[in-house]
Amino acid sequence: MIIAIDGPAASGKGTIARRLAAHLALPHLDTGLIYRATARTVLDNGDRLDDPDRAVAAARGLALTEYDEDRLRGAEMGEAASVVAALPPVREALIDLQKTFAARPGGAVLDGRDIGTVICPEADVKIFVTARPEVRAQRRALELHGRGEKVDYDVVLADIRKRDERDSGRSAAPLRMAPDAVLLDTSDLDVEAAFAAALAIVERAK
Ligand code: C5P
Repeated sequence: MIIAIDGPAASGKGTIARRLAAHLALPHLDTGLIYRATARTVLDNGDRLDDPDRAVAAARGLALTEYDEDRLRGAEMGEAASVVAALPPVREALIDLQKTFAARPGGAVLDGRDIGTVICPEADVKIFVTARPEVRAQRRALELHGRGEKVDYDVVLADIRKRDERDSGRSAAPLRMAPDAVLLDTSDLDVEAAFAAALAIVERAK
């Protein structure tokens, strides 16, 4: 069973994907990490994030195990990832890796922005997870605070809005709900309730 989970930043899609994968004993790929690692490599090489040739070279050479996941999860790398992710040749270079993961025998859970629309249009279950921007900003601020980063709620909210705009407005694989996806708004749900709602969607599709 292939489960595709998409949605904007801090919607809860990562937590839902992780919990579903653990519950169903399926492998999980957080595809945002791939774009974050690509951006990290570009910056470590001293290159520009909007230089398609350098970004594609970084994407092609990616070995995810080389990265400290925690270091990739900061706010700065989320922003940098959305810059390289807007470059069509970068997305192209990362398709095979994601499709190969999805094709594992037994299935997989993938989360990102274009899983249900581009990477796994044939997924058995598609969930589009969203939440109001203010709620997402609050969650993200809490998470960053927990990571020891300095946070200002207004800045976090502005960043979230900017990232939404860039991810939805780009021409290459923009953030969109697939027509056959189920919408899950987590604005007024805690983690347990959001997970239960997602699991119910999966069970219905079985
Ligand atoms: O989900 P996360 O915040 O880690 O993603 C970082 C950025 O990577 C997103 O803002 C988006 O621009 C990009 N991304 C993407 N397609 C995916 C996953 C992430 O474009 N499937």
